[in-house]
Amino acid sequence: MDVYRLPRHVIPVRYGLRLEPDLKTFAFIGGETVTVTVLEPTTEIVLNAAELEIIEATIENEGNASLRGTIELDETMERCRLTFSDKLRPGTWRLNLAFKGTLNDKLRGFYRSSYKDQAGATHVLAATQFEATDARRAFPCWDEPDFKAVFSTTLVIDSSLTAVSNTAVQSERLEGGKKILRFGDTFRMSTYLVAFVVGTIEATEPVSVGRTPLRVWCVPGKRRLAKFGLEIGAFSLRFFEDYYGLPYPGDKLDLLAIPDFASGAMENLGAITFRETALLVDEQAATHAELERIAGVVAHENAHMWFGDLVTMSWWNGLWLNEAFATFMEMLAVDAWKPEWQRWTTFGVSRAAALSVDGLHSTRPIEFSVTAPREADAMFDVLTYEKGASVLRMLEQYLGPEVFRDGVRDYLRAHAYGNANTGDLWVSLGRVAKQPVPELTDGWIFRPGYPLISVSLDGSVLVIKQQRFTYLPGSTDAKGPPKEVNQRWQVPTQIKITANGKTETRRLLLSEEETQIQVPKEFESVLVNEDGHGFYRVRYAPGLLERLVQLVPDSLAPIERFNLVNDAWAATVAGLMPITEYLDLTARFRADRDKNVWAILIESFHFLHRILAPAERPALEAFVRDRISPLLTELGWTPKPGENDLIRQLRGDLLRALGTIGNDRNVQARAAELYLASRKDQTTFDPNVLPALIAILAHSGHAARYNEFWERFRSAATPQEERRYLYSLAAFQPVELLQQTLAHTIDGEIRTQDAPFIVRLLLMSIYGRVLAWKFVKANWETMDRLYPKNGLRRMCEGVIGLATPELERDVHEFFTSRKVDLGGKTLDQYLEQLHLAVTFREHASAALSNYVGKFLTS
Ligand code: BES
Ligand code: ZN
Repeated sequence: MDVYRLPRHVIPVRYGLRLEPDLKTFAFIGGETVTVTVLEPTTEIVLNAAELEIIEATIENEGNASLRGTIELDETMERCRLTFSDKLRPGTWRLNLAFKGTLNDKLRGFYRSSYKDQAGATHVLAATQFEATDARRAFPCWDEPDFKAVFSTTLVIDSSLTAVSNTAVQSERLEGGKKILRFGDTFRMSTYLVAFVVGTIEATEPVSVGRTPLRVWCVPGKRRLAKFGLEIGAFSLRFFEDYYGLPYPGDKLDLLAIPDFASGAMENLGAITFRETALLVDEQAATHAELERIAGVVAHENAHMWFGDLVTMSWWNGLWLNEAFATFMEMLAVDAWKPEWQRWTTFGVSRAAALSVDGLHSTRPIEFSVTAPREADAMFDVLTYEKGASVLRMLEQYLGPEVFRDGVRDYLRAHAYGNANTGDLWVSLGRVAKQPVPELTDGWIFRPGYPLISVSLDGSVLVIKQQRFTYLPGSTDAKGPPKEVNQRWQVPTQIKITANGKTETRRLLLSEEETQIQVPKEFESVLVNEDGHGFYRVRYAPGLLERLVQLVPDSLAPIERFNLVNDAWAATVAGLMPITEYLDLTARFRADRDKNVWAILIESFHFLHRILAPAERPALEAFVRDRISPLLTELGWTPKPGENDLIRQLRGDLLRALGTIGNDRNVQARAAELYLASRKDQTTFDPNVLPALIAILAHSGHAARYNEFWERFRSAATPQEERRYLYSLAAFQPVELLQQTLAHTIDGEIRTQDAPFIVRLLLMSIYGRVLAWKFVKANWETMDRLYPKNGLRRMCEGVIGLATPELERDVHEFFTSRKVDLGGKTLDQYLEQLHLAVTFREHASAALSNYVGKFLTS
């Protein structure tokens, strides 16, 4: 039995919670009465607690006088053992606990957050973040997702403050100068979904969505930034009620922007918390990408109110049931809200990120065993979210959207207020689809990796093969299980065949290693993964690839072009396609107007920039200009009337790339002029261009500009503006400036919610990486002490930018000697990605510099 799991002879039913936080001393006192069911006679109750002092424990029931328990705390196991002198008989008991704790600054459990007002005075608020296993830091509890219970919370706060929790306020009274807020009972739910926020905070007027009042909360002065979040909040709530066929399960819904927040947002029932950039925005001043992010986060968390909150995975190994679904539902909702945003096409970028990690030997299956809390935290990754959502999309398209939705409805109804696992979902989907689902899906959920589908033409026969795709040959993971040979998947494919000017689509479920299909006479071309929903890569025999490329851009959909480039790039990194061939291919996309196609092209240019020796960089920069300039010239620097949001975003992305990695002097000079103009008059300016200007100016800037941007970061008017300037501080080239930025990641000037991301950027920067790596090594303990719990994990992703053999050796040496564990397979994945870059550098550098060298003179 797993030592981290609690014994199950005593089960909580209801928590009466009372908490009294003191925002001046950063302390809280708490009391709780937990109604429990004792299932077997026992003298012992074991529950979770961490960083709490438990002062007193008593237990009572109708027939018995109260018994006092002795209390033993085990900090390493995060547990508390209560022992009673008499046996507790089976039945219902009331356990009373008195405890106290501190409002920590680690953005977990019950923690403090602070902000400065306009006059520069600092204010403190208190908030919670419990997922995955930190409710135990706020009150002793059975902190596992399947110990669902009712929560009835009372908060005792300063009379000048406001508080929000999961349900509506039921009563409010003043007593001894304190405000006592009693919140209504929640429905039966998991501990990780409980939340309270206390401070001087303001709400918008409620918007009614059916019977549900919806509000946005923020620190004083920011309500003007709430409108957009409210709109997508209201839309997605309606959308989900309709899709799930179930009313919103709570009694109200508050969306709260918290100045210090570890992740992006958290789906606490009825009290969703966000970092400010993920909720508050000035719509007129934001880029398309920034708005898309907010819409996505809000929709994602709202989707959780059913998927996650109403029905919860039984244990953390099934986290994908929460997160993959919320991610999938987020796309559906945002796509329904703004079809013109083409959300499913942009989802290709997320799918590509999952394909990257899942192409490593150190990947893991979506569902993966979890024991210790650290392992639960490591589950929040691209495999759970993006691979999970991709697999759901593939399944939805295969079964049909209505069948899929009805299966989801069946699943939610069957398990409402309870827990479920993956098998339960297959049962519901199978019931509605009238076909067994596990044969199809298990390979995608319970096994690592995905197939590479290769297509070739043999006379009039199309030969389609599948084999696992990995970047590096063989297994580098000596500890792992032996590599499965001939791993096969059931692959739903959609194949478009063009012959004699006509196209036909064939839907095939590939299950064999090789499948052959006859093609019609006068065959012209074949496209595998039409519409792009499949979670696999495609490799075409050279002749077939050339025929497809002829169709670019007009006769292939954006997602199909995206996949074509993305798969070609992956094949190149894997050594299956010569780098020269890939670079040739990029020329065929010069006129492409899809921002996602460009995102992958630009990402590949960055990768190449990182592995080249400094002397070779100018040639690569010239090559980048050759690829990007024509389209930008055509688009111009200012939007044309009637131009859509995606083109505006594309303009910004191209500009940024041309002015930074393309190092285009003219663009840099023009950007400086325009930036000046924009400072005088922001209104006539397209917001999609401004962040690009900031990035370009940082890239080519010196001390004066650094100081200016530092000030703008400190005095920014919106969370987005603050973020742009903050990130720009990692985008300068002079090392003495980057050294300053590094220093600010541990001196309190940059919030700990942001600092790990800044360090990550610096590790990825060719100008900052050596410096940043030294800094990380020298300040590891400090960072570990300061940053929120996932901070180091996020930060360390930057080591994949340390792509020289010497740095790679040093990285290994550091992590080995420090015995660093980032949870799950995270560190192995970073190291494998680093190794991949170094290997590629060895193999491809010569051909690469030879190729780009030709661009210098022209
Ligand atoms: N449940 C997560 C929040 C979370 C993340 C808790 C990591 C514990 C550890 C939430 O629903 C979520 O997924 N948030 C995302 C944003 C989302 C739009 C992808 C996040 O925080 O990045
Ligand atoms: Zn989520």
